[in-house]
Amino acid sequence: MEGGIDTGKDDSLGVRRRGLARHLVAVQEEQRLRLSRELHDDLGQMLASVALELHMVRAGSPEMDARLERAAMLVDRLNAKVHDAAWSLRPADLDRLGLRASVEDLASVLCGQLGIPCEMDLEALSSPPPAEIALTLYRIAQEALTNIGKHAAPSRVSVTAHIHDDRMRLTIEDDGRGFDGGAEPGPGHLGLAGMRERLALVGGKLSVETARGKGTTIYADVPLAG
Ligand SMILES: Nc1ncnc2c1ncn2[C@@H]1O[C@H](COP(=O)(O)OP(=O)(O)OP(=O)(O)O)[C@@H](O)[C@H]1O
Ligand SMILES: [Mg+2]
Repeated sequence: MEGGIDTGKDDSLGVRRRGLARHLVAVQEEQRLRLSRELHDDLGQMLASVALELHMVRAGSPEMDARLERAAMLVDRLNAKVHDAAWSLRPADLDRLGLRASVEDLASVLCGQLGIPCEMDLEALSSPPPAEIALTLYRIAQEALTNIGKHAAPSRVSVTAHIHDDRMRLTIEDDGRGFDGGAEPGPGHLGLAGMRERLALVGGKLSVETARGKGTTIYADVPLAG
C-alpha cells in the first residue's frame, strides 16, 4: 500500500530516485556532448569539403552547371543545419558560468538576434539548485527559447524564475504566434516531449499555455527538496 510506506523507507526511495535522476541526466549530457562533437567535427568538416568541391566544379553545359550550383547550395544549407544542431547540443557551461548567467546568456543571445526586448528576473537562480536540476532547467530554457526563435516571431520575451514552498518555477513567455496546444506535435517535433521527459526525471512538470495569435507561456516546475 502506497500510503503505508514508513518515513525511513520513503526517504531511501527519495534518495534512490534522486541518484537515478542524477545518473540519467549525466548520461544524457554525455551523449549530447558526443553527438555535438561528431556533428561539428566530423559531419561539419566533411560537408564543408563537399561544398568547397561543388563550388569549384564546372561541368561546362549550362544545365549541369545550374544543377551543380543547386547541389552546392543545398550542401551549404545542410552545413548550416548541422552547425545549429551541434551548437544546441553543446554542453552547458554551468560549472564556469552558473545557472543564472547561463540562462541570461541564452535569452540575451536570442533577443539580440530577434532585435526585441527581453525581460529577465532570474535572481532565484543565483543560489544554484542541485546539479541535475540546474542542467534540466538549463535545457528547458534552451529548448523553449529555441522554439521562440523558430516559431514565435514575438515582439517581446520574458524569462523569470521564482521559488515557492521548496518548488522552483521557471517561466518563459512570448507574445508571438502561439499554437494549438491540444494538437499532437507529430513525428519530427521532439522539443516539447523532450522537455516533459527531462522534467519528469527530476520529479518536475511542464505546463504550456498557448493559443493561436495569443503567445506562449512555458512553466517548468521542479521540487528542490528530495
Ligand atoms: N513559442 C512558440 N511559439 C509558437 N509556436 C510554438 C512555440 N513553441 C512550440 N511551438 C509549436 O509547437 C510545435 C512543437 O514544438 P517542438 O519543440 O516539440 O518541435 P519543433 O520545435 O517543431 O522541432 P524540434 O524541437 O524537435 O526541433 C512547433 O512545431 C511549433 O508549431
Ligand atoms: Mg522545438
